[in-house]
Amino acid sequence: MIVRALADEELEHVDARLPLHRLEQSGGLYLVAWEAGEPVGHAHLALTDPPELQDVYVLPAHRRRGVATALTRAAEQEAASRSFDRLTLSVDVENDAAQALYRRCGYRERGGPVRHRGSTLLRGEPFAFDVLLVYLVKPLGSPPGA
Ligand SMILES: CC(C)(COP(=O)(O)OP(=O)(O)OC[C@H]1O[C@@H](n2cnc3c(N)ncnc32)[C@H](O)[C@@H]1OP(=O)(O)O)[C@@H](O)C(=O)NCCC(=O)NCCS
Repeated sequence: MIVRALADEELEHVDARLPLHRLEQSGGLYLVAWEAGEPVGHAHLALTDPPELQDVYVLPAHRRRGVATALTRAAEQEAASRSFDRLTLSVDVENDAAQALYRRCGYRERGGPVRHRGSTLLRGEPFAFDVLLVYLVKPLGSPPGA
């Protein structure tokens, strides 16, 4: 498996196969995992201060094979290469799979749960949400699972 930043010339191919919900969000980049020449998962890194890992997604047929872990690591390396000392994220309290993933990758709780209700536009489409989010953080440079 290879993880690399989404290149302009790959956009059409990847967009047809993966739900790049944050594509129109400025100030960040997508990392894409490739297997056998096909995109199988993605993660969005928002270059805020601190940076935030968002929209981690793996195609169902490719789950439980370390793809999201590799995407998370790649996001950490990308953030560290830009001199950030931590990476943050939020996750739905009911998303047990994602919580297990991030805790295993070394993320720890920094706040929440906080209820978020409202609506937004995702790729031009209205999206209503009502979620309880926990906030996680990982100091960059710490070993996985520390
Ligand atoms: C959550 C998600 C990104 C995990 O992707 P993945 O590539 O399967 O994750 P990994 O293979 O790297 O898993 C690493 C570890 O996380 C934990 N984990 C991952 N999926 C899990 C699940 N369904 N149930 C329990 N633990 C899980 C396990 O500890 C796993 O290690 P193991 O397989 O050796 O037991 C994927 O299920 C997905 O795309 N879900 C839908 C989108 C989503 O919820 N994204 C997260 C938004 S915050």
